Amino acid sequence: SDAVRDHSLLVDHKHLDLNLVNELPDSHAWTPLNDNPSGDSCTRESVPIIDLNDPNAQNLIGHACKTWGVFQVTKHGIPINLLNDIESAGMSLFSLPIQQKLKAARSPEGVSGYGVARISSFFPKRMWSEGFTIVGSPLEHARQLWPQDYTKFCDLIEEYEKEMKKLAGKLMWLMLGSLSLGITKEDVKWAGPKGDFKGAGAVLQLNYYPTCSDPNRAMGLPAHTDSTLLTILQQSNISGLQVLREGIGWVTVPPVHGALVVNVGDLLHILSNGSYPNVTHRAVVNRTQHRLSIAFLYGPPSSVQISPLSKLVDHGHLPLYRPVTWSEYLGTKAKLFNKALSSIRLCDSL
Ligand code: SIN
Ligand code: FE2
Repeated sequence: SDAVRDHSLLVDHKHLDLNLVNELPDSHAWTPLNDNPSGDSCTRESVPIIDLNDPNAQNLIGHACKTWGVFQVTKHGIPINLLNDIESAGMSLFSLPIQQKLKAARSPEGVSGYGVARISSFFPKRMWSEGFTIVGSPLEHARQLWPQDYTKFCDLIEEYEKEMKKLAGKLMWLMLGSLSLGITKEDVKWAGPKGDFKGAGAVLQLNYYPTCSDPNRAMGLPAHTDSTLLTILQQSNISGLQVLREGIGWVTVPPVHGALVVNVGDLLHILSNGSYPNVTHRAVVNRTQHRLSIAFLYGPPSSVQISPLSKLVDHGHLPLYRPVTWSEYLGTKAKLFNKALSSIRLCDSL
């Protein structure tokens, strides 16, 4: 019977194997995207694509951050082979049988491991995606996934995180530098004496979106902002990422070969005293092609409190937010989700 067949798709009452589902279950049916008044609009505006070697890159980045809170970057210096390798590793991870993936399941209190996106609890419907989160060493979970052959994955993750950290530090200075003339190492003490943000924290989030028979009613990842300073996102050559632009609506960020997407997160919004919008984004799914994305979530060292840069605050510009550490902010976000920022807001903008 259908009931029996459906039950066989349920691995442990919580984990439906989306790859085996033919019809969109009610639990996964959202308001159709086309019915949404701010649905993907016909617009000629598109997210800027910026060549990091362009002598004018800093200005272009500043403008993109102020208007969009997101841009794509090319000539970023990350070897294309590394991008390809991490993508194949991600694909082989999500292609494992679900029983195998569940061996590396995130524990209820944990942050690392296989599971649905953590924002899931804030939504009445379930997402059409699988996730794998890496904080610190992936060794333990990699062993559970590939008992015979886990070191290659661990080495790759280490290399990817090292390269991403370098790029993120570079991007931080470009993004901060265009806020106000003369933001220097002195203004961001926690960047360290060399200004390389050595103590910065990072999380790697792999997302997988299986094909879906009813993509208009499914949601890969619902609208959210990132609780980071910035996020560097590698999307495969399948489109799915959309960003919300005020006054326009949802705008698709088309995949550009070799390019990386850079998002302004909540903490950079705070640091910029509101100058840079923390971009709201989501991932939609499609009928014919599964999709993978790899998000490098970048934040301050755990002991550092983020507050609006003092150079941006004067008698005409009050600080909009109180100081907050990354983990305090994550805790607030885990409780309040999209009300987290307003809960640490000090006053309304003048
Ligand atoms: C994310 O918001 O973390 C991922 C978005 C995407 O898959 O493009
Ligand atoms: Fe995100």
